[in-house]
Amino acid sequence: MSQTKQNDVGFLSCLLHVDEDAPRESWCHMKPLIPWKKPSPVPHKPSQDSWPYNEPQARASHHHSGVFPRNGQRGALNPRPLFVQPSHFSSRSGSQPPRQQTLDSSQDLRRTKLHQLLTDIHHTSLSAQPVDIARAVFKTSINLLSNTIFSLDLFHSTDSVGDFKDLVVKIMEESGRPNLADFFPALKIIDPQGIKTRNTGHADKIIHIFRRLVHQRLELRQLQCDRNNDMQNTLLNTHEMNPTKIEHLALTLFVAGTDRIASTLEWAMAELLQNEKAMTKAKQEMEEIIGRGKPVEESDIGRLPYLHAVIKETFRLHPAVPFLVPRKANADVEIGGYTIPKEAHVFVNVWAIGRSAVWTNANVFFPERFLESDVDVKGHSYELTPFGAGRRICPGLPLAMRMLYLMLGSLLNCFNWKLERAMNMDESFGIALAKAQPVRVFAEKVTC
Ligand code: HEM
Repeated sequence: MSQTKQNDVGFLSCLLHVDEDAPRESWCHMKPLIPWKKPSPVPHKPSQDSWPYNEPQARASHHHSGVFPRNGQRGALNPRPLFVQPSHFSSRSGSQPPRQQTLDSSQDLRRTKLHQLLTDIHHTSLSAQPVDIARAVFKTSINLLSNTIFSLDLFHSTDSVGDFKDLVVKIMEESGRPNLADFFPALKIIDPQGIKTRNTGHADKIIHIFRRLVHQRLELRQLQCDRNNDMQNTLLNTHEMNPTKIEHLALTLFVAGTDRIASTLEWAMAELLQNEKAMTKAKQEMEEIIGRGKPVEESDIGRLPYLHAVIKETFRLHPAVPFLVPRKANADVEIGGYTIPKEAHVFVNVWAIGRSAVWTNANVFFPERFLESDVDVKGHSYELTPFGAGRRICPGLPLAMRMLYLMLGSLLNCFNWKLERAMNMDESFGIALAKAQPVRVFAEKVTC
């Protein structure tokens, strides 16, 4: 029986070898207890450095990896301890040197994938068909990850990506669905709503793909003709990892990473398409700084403040994980005058924070608000934490930010966009904040 079937805890926890004795709650019964108070200023460096190149490193060498949990640690979607000392909320950057070189070394791969995205869109534009932005970006993110881990493209056409995307979205939906079994643990065996059964089924379909890839690699290694220098090889050389763990780790990364990048980019495009002034400004900035019709390079990123502001503003209004991952209080704690009893689960409603009175004209898409501001998304500024904060901040943040810059910047600079029909900005709420209606737009290539 697969690891996924053995455990009946929340979906991703299954993948991460959860301790059988660990609490088995999932998202559903969390109390919407959301103490929000603007924190006293946290020392925070101005962002005139070459952000995001000097992001804190991924958490691999942290005392707990988050990606490689030790036995007994809970996985990604189970409640995390609710830390209360300010130091627990501070970023890891103080204690760890940035590991930007690691990300820099895979720059060529991102450039290749970006060019494939632009070529796909150009081809679609030549056939006078609208582009489904989220789907096109999803394919790019999937293939980027699959190349990083397995050295191959998982998908060759944007059409074929649909089923895989559906599976990822379904997994996120099921993980966020209220589950009776969390209120009445005795029901866990029965799985009254079938949530666990369905999620196991979805996960198994994805795991099946990865299992085939891992086994092919093991065969190559046996024949001593494996020339790949990728994450899979590194993991296979690590004693702590075995094929099952690698398959589950890959599943975690694919589920946690790909759809969030796609949905953030889709929201950014949706907002810009609604907002001619912001669209023109973003395009103008790129035309002036990198030249008309050219794709964005990673070395351009620090030179595009308006693009940077557009991405932050998108995160403020449309955080891809609107309630983060739930926290659980290990003891009675007081935060901002609210008492949170031991064992309580806490949602951090970043969606509501993004639209609260902390912001002027909070419901208006206005990237300019970030131009002279130190607020960033790296977990220092509690008014904007789309990646979470503290020890469990998203380990994919540096990669996600680079991908968003490259893709959004290049889509804007290389094409002019026209909506297929009037934009519907409705949201579909769950663990992930998706657009209810996909953004479908006609692209017209910009000539250099
Ligand atoms: C726009 C893109 C992304 C957004 C908005 C995002 C957001 C988040 C958030 C909010 C969390 C929970 C943090 C918390 O509760 O404090 C998280 C966790 C996580 N993210 Fe991301 N993420 C993105 C991209 C990625 C990518 C590209 C990867 C990897 C390839 C990734 C891997 C993970 C993993 C493994 C976790 C669980 C970490 C843990 O449990 O310690 N994410 N992400």
